[in-house]
Amino acid sequence: MLIKTLTVLDEQYQALNNDGEDVIQGLTQTHKTLPPKYFYDDRGSELFEQICELPEYYPTRTEANILSQYADEIASIIGNCELVELGSGSSTKTRSLLDAYQKIADSGRYLPIDVSGGILKTSVIQLQQKYPNFFIQGLLGTYEQALVYLKSTHPSPRLVFFLGSSLGNFNPQECEHFLHQIAETLNPGDYFLLGIDLQKPKEILEAAYNDSQGVTAAFNLNMLAHLNWRFQGNFDLSLFTHQAIYNQVEHQIEMYLHSQTNHLVSLDILNLQVSFQAGESILTEISRKFDLENMQQQLAAQGLKPVKNWTDSQQWFGLILCQA
Ligand code: AVJ
Repeated sequence: MLIKTLTVLDEQYQALNNDGEDVIQGLTQTHKTLPPKYFYDDRGSELFEQICELPEYYPTRTEANILSQYADEIASIIGNCELVELGSGSSTKTRSLLDAYQKIADSGRYLPIDVSGGILKTSVIQLQQKYPNFFIQGLLGTYEQALVYLKSTHPSPRLVFFLGSSLGNFNPQECEHFLHQIAETLNPGDYFLLGIDLQKPKEILEAAYNDSQGVTAAFNLNMLAHLNWRFQGNFDLSLFTHQAIYNQVEHQIEMYLHSQTNHLVSLDILNLQVSFQAGESILTEISRKFDLENMQQQLAAQGLKPVKNWTDSQQWFGLILCQA
């Protein structure tokens, strides 16, 4: 049963619900790929929460520290507004921002948006208890669906935020398109807060994506389990292995699943049969690492005027606040 505070965007935006088309697209290319959004079924979101706790995985911890240190300043610059979070997951880091807003206003609105219904529902229930004066409404859907929904509603001033360096999943072209969409969605004066992982030595990056406990490997493999239940597939997870490498030319982590044998996989709901050669790989994710100044220029080019940015003492992670 869905609670009142959860809106399913899928039902409202059927036209955007091209479920599985992207899987067919990705698996029928010469160099096979799969979209990272398929990491996040309920199990995948749980595994991602575990990744965030790993000693090697610094991004979440680093960003959470920056946020908790500067949340009051961020809230005072922006002032009272509707808070909209893209890819909210468990909304753990967001609590510093909600705390800051609770100090400056006695009511507020928070719309967390995620593709994973389980984690969204649980966190909305918990947040509603912790912040009784906030109107909190979870939106279940993809970024595309969310942006269409946001464009169709015209509230008071808004802060849209996109944390955790999820922007890193987009290639440069997709990234430009996404930022353009954000700029189009915002009204003049609205704010956008972006969290980005910054460039750093290969050793630190590769350790973060090949953790010693194998949680990232389980997270990567879980995408196949997700496709199995969602599209009636028969991926055998034991025939694939995880690897993450840092591509220093593109400044991106690349996560692969390598097939160990020649074999055939079918996804019945998609009417799809895919053959794998031994050693062949699927690229399941890129995670780009950014340059702070360069990103500010990219945002400015879309009409998102940089207001202020914050980073940690090692300059490992950056937060950029900009205004439409
Ligand atoms: C959620 C996309 C920001 O790229 O670091 C973590 C996902 N993948 N470990 C990232 C992820 C492997 C994460 N993002």
